[in-house]
Amino acid sequence: MTELSRRKMLASGGVLGALGALGMAAPAQARSLMNWTWSPQGSVAGAGAGADPRWVWDEEADPLVAALLDRGDVPKVNELLWNWERNDQPLPAGLPKDLHAFIERERQLPSWADRGKLETAAEFNKSRGLYLNLLNGVGGGMLSTAIPKEARAVYYSKGGADMEDRVAKTSLLGFSVGALDAYRPGGTCQVEAIKTRLVHAAVRHLLQQSPHWPDEIPISQNDMLVTWHTLPTFAMRRMRDWKVPISDAEADAYLHVWQVTAHLLGIRDEYIPADWKAANAQSDQVLPPAMGPTREGVELTDILLGQLADQTSLGTGISRPLCNALARYLVGDKVADWDRIRREPIWDLAVSAAWPLLVKFREGVIDKPLVPEAAWLLDEAARQYILFYLTKGQETKIEIPTVNRPE
Ligand code: HEM
Repeated sequence: MTELSRRKMLASGGVLGALGALGMAAPAQARSLMNWTWSPQGSVAGAGAGADPRWVWDEEADPLVAALLDRGDVPKVNELLWNWERNDQPLPAGLPKDLHAFIERERQLPSWADRGKLETAAEFNKSRGLYLNLLNGVGGGMLSTAIPKEARAVYYSKGGADMEDRVAKTSLLGFSVGALDAYRPGGTCQVEAIKTRLVHAAVRHLLQQSPHWPDEIPISQNDMLVTWHTLPTFAMRRMRDWKVPISDAEADAYLHVWQVTAHLLGIRDEYIPADWKAANAQSDQVLPPAMGPTREGVELTDILLGQLADQTSLGTGISRPLCNALARYLVGDKVADWDRIRREPIWDLAVSAAWPLLVKFREGVIDKPLVPEAAWLLDEAARQYILFYLTKGQETKIEIPTVNRPE
């Protein structure tokens, strides 16, 4: 059997998923590294096989999308799904039957979704929007480039060649999670999450054909969890560091909106943490070993920060150093050094002094005169960044790729 056909067979999902669940798809060397100890009792399912998520992928979406790609159906599917946007919108006619059935089934909210909590989360996302957009967008972005598997996946997939469009597409999901109507009938979260699930399934199939990709199937359930923790878990921890007042009900609701999103993205319920204690424990287990420097991550970071600086017109010579300092402040020195974010002696100090005061002012703890000038630059930079991607997002849609990054 040739290398490519062996990989193809592995990627054919159903069998793989079943074997993965039993821990049988893993090569011997990898199996010996297994030490998955996070208990499914801490998950929203409350029970599960306890299989190591490094060897579990998406057994429903993967074979489906692989078949769509092999049949050459994806361009037509993308065209049909272009205007499918709202949670309550019927699917367009003409989709392949297997895909239509999959989306209809998987677009539903899980039985454990709680409308009340989703509403509280929407209010929380609105009132804390500035922090959350910054933490999820810039912070999450800088963390993801310091996750070797993710950095390489992004770099060698189609979107790696056009990072502005890539970020705009990713922001579509980010903004829809944070929107007031996220999971209401007029919102877009269910649609963006299902489209993303299909994109990930396509990436699993396509990347294995890339000469730059190692002999493994990308985007395992473990990889999904790693990235998930760079979003809500990281954001909650940083907001706690900044002493943002957050009630228990708000914290619980914010977790909930991300639990529902995880489910719709194809993360199995048995891996989705049920509460913050379980989430923090899982994050501490999966995140540190998944992080480190790569050439690809450093290059992506430089592109992302360059774009961020271009979008924030704060005056000549200010934007890039300020963006570097902001990014370093958000993710900390270790990750910033892995990402080779330049140290900015003046701005690093200014940002770490100014940000906590800006938070205090926004939370009504101190008056405006006590807020330093640098804080308003940060406030403005964050606003411009959010506005830029909100606007950019209107020009693009999440689409299933048919190729990897062109050579
Ligand atoms: C695409 C979000 C996990 C790699 C996307 C897109 C979104 C997204 C919204 C669509 C944007 C686009 O098409 O460019 C998420 C979320 C995750 C997650 C919320 C976890 C909770 C991961 C992981 C990896 C990954 C773990 C890799 C290890 C990719 C790649 C693309 C993609 C390569 C497609 C890029 C392209 O070629 O266009 N993701 N992702 N994602 N994601 Fe993820």
